[in-house]
Amino acid sequence: MDTFTPSALEAAARTFADRHPTGKLVAAFVAGSGIALAAPGWERAAEVPYAGVFPFPVPELPGHTPTVTVWRQGGRGLLVFNGRFHLYQGYSAPQVAAIPRLAALLGAPVYVATNASGSIDPAVPAGSLVVVRDHINFQGTSPLAGEWGRWRAPMFPDLTDAYDPGLRAAAAASARAAGFAVSEGVYVGTLGPNYETPAEVEAFRRMGGTVVGMSTVQEVIAARHLGLRVLVLSLATNMAAGIGGQPLTHQEVLEVGEAARGRLQSLLVGVVTELEQARA
Ligand code: HPA
Repeated sequence: MDTFTPSALEAAARTFADRHPTGKLVAAFVAGSGIALAAPGWERAAEVPYAGVFPFPVPELPGHTPTVTVWRQGGRGLLVFNGRFHLYQGYSAPQVAAIPRLAALLGAPVYVATNASGSIDPAVPAGSLVVVRDHINFQGTSPLAGEWGRWRAPMFPDLTDAYDPGLRAAAAASARAAGFAVSEGVYVGTLGPNYETPAEVEAFRRMGGTVVGMSTVQEVIAARHLGLRVLVLSLATNMAAGIGGQPLTHQEVLEVGEAARGRLQSLLVGVVTELEQARA
């Protein structure tokens, strides 16, 4: 039984808000594998290890301390969560969803997630950035199961346009302005941690998937449940199994993540600018 309860999360949010003033939040960002985010023109006001934020054990790997960065500019703030929780690490769906829920409790109106994925569409080459327009939840769980569904209404949230059409358009415009193209696609979320079989990838392709990855869908469901506007940018680091013909390695995923960082960074800066203007 998961001992991570809604009241524990609410207490964690109060503690965080007391210790780290965020100002009026413009958005919360979560950065996935190999993807680092910085906010040019903003001041890094705090860098807080996850172990002191979330009310459940967060093991740290040597040389890798996941942190949340509070960025400030005048009375406004941005939260950047550097690293996420995955079901395949053994976290429960509510623990995986703790990042967007904390962001919502702290007042963030927008949730922007980046992740790494495998492309299941031959027209989307490795290294592409995909603006997610919808998902297929193949993780077999929901962060709303049990008491978390009763925590806030509605228990049965609608997921039409879960991926905000306005933010998707802003992301595409910001990519164009930065001089590169993005496509839109459907993200299939799996449990992992193994990569998919070629037969699974073929099935996902026929189901309408564009990319496949092991994260994000729990976060999106929780974020929409709490009314946040959601944008997800997926970096297709490789062709999924059976599409490219090469066996997959985690190293390849990290290297392509590094190479595409600049493009993703400029796209996100464009999105932040757009959000600032929208709220100005
Ligand atoms: N499959 C699932 N998750 C991934 C992949 C993949 O091919 N690449 C990066 N994350």
